[in-house]
Amino acid sequence: MPAASDRPEVITSIAALRERFPAGTVALVPTMGALHEGHLALVDRAAALVRAGATPGSTTPTPAPSAVVVSIFVNPLQFGPNEDLARYPRDLDADLDLLAGHGVTAVFHPDVDEMYPGGPSQTRVTAGDVGALWEGRSRPGHFDGMLTVVAKLLGIARPAVALFGQKDAQQLFLVQRMVRELDIATRIEGVTTVRAGDGLALSSRNRYLDPNERIAARALSAALEAAGSAGDRGIDAVIAAAQSVLMGEELVELDYLGIVDPATFRPVADDFRGPARVLIAAKVGPARLIDNADIYLNRAA
Ligand code: PAJ
Repeated sequence: MPAASDRPEVITSIAALRERFPAGTVALVPTMGALHEGHLALVDRAAALVRAGATPGSTTPTPAPSAVVVSIFVNPLQFGPNEDLARYPRDLDADLDLLAGHGVTAVFHPDVDEMYPGGPSQTRVTAGDVGALWEGRSRPGHFDGMLTVVAKLLGIARPAVALFGQKDAQQLFLVQRMVRELDIATRIEGVTTVRAGDGLALSSRNRYLDPNERIAARALSAALEAAGSAGDRGIDAVIAAAQSVLMGEELVELDYLGIVDPATFRPVADDFRGPARVLIAAKVGPARLIDNADIYLNRAA
């Protein structure tokens, strides 16, 4: 158990955070808490950027951040009416313990009133065409709510860099596009998905799984692996390979399976050749899980 003094300082007000960290000094890791090793990979990358910036002669992108800030805020705007906002796991103490010793300067932990005084903001960022595909199709309004809070967090912390996981590939795509299209002065960096030993992508929602469901959930990453091995045989073979793994697991109820062009996040054309991304979303018991992987399509074609 880490000593309380190793834990990062907690800041709850926007004014205090802005006063403490001048623009361009922060490496920001936005989260909703219930932290796990996947989140820690983002934190460790942020801390590495700070260390590199402090090393004379190192060639880090400028401006180099000098502090790591992790935000923990369960954003009501990105949950649908029948989703898990009320039961989403919240345990600040456990989160602070996990962050101890990882080089985090401060945790930004505002309450809902601090972020949305007077109720949900009237102004929203819209995710556009890609916001209605895949996750956006299953979760209407989710990406508008997500982009709105990310825009607010970037406006509050004015970070030099913000880190997001590849695990939520569509989210990362949309955040990158928002920052580019709205000229937000933050560099967005993606971090590779952290997985359990059996391949399951770590997720705060994995704690909803009972032991049988947890075993069944391996099918998602197993399906992605099968898809990757079929890449040279084309799109239909990729889909069939993934589907046959998923069909074998009766506790897994597939929501969508798709192959996208990473440049557009739209479905690839039949004759697509090159790097692509396979997306999976499925319900496993009470949990809705997503995962994705890079594949290479039609190398030999
Ligand atoms: P949350 O689900 O808490 O995830 C926070 C960040 O951790 C996201 O960038 C996510 O992609 C990353 N992450 C989660 N699991 C990971 C894993 N196994 N490996 C690597 N990275 C992982 O995503 C959100 O929160 C919210 O939508 C947020 C961006 C904070 C806006 O509210």
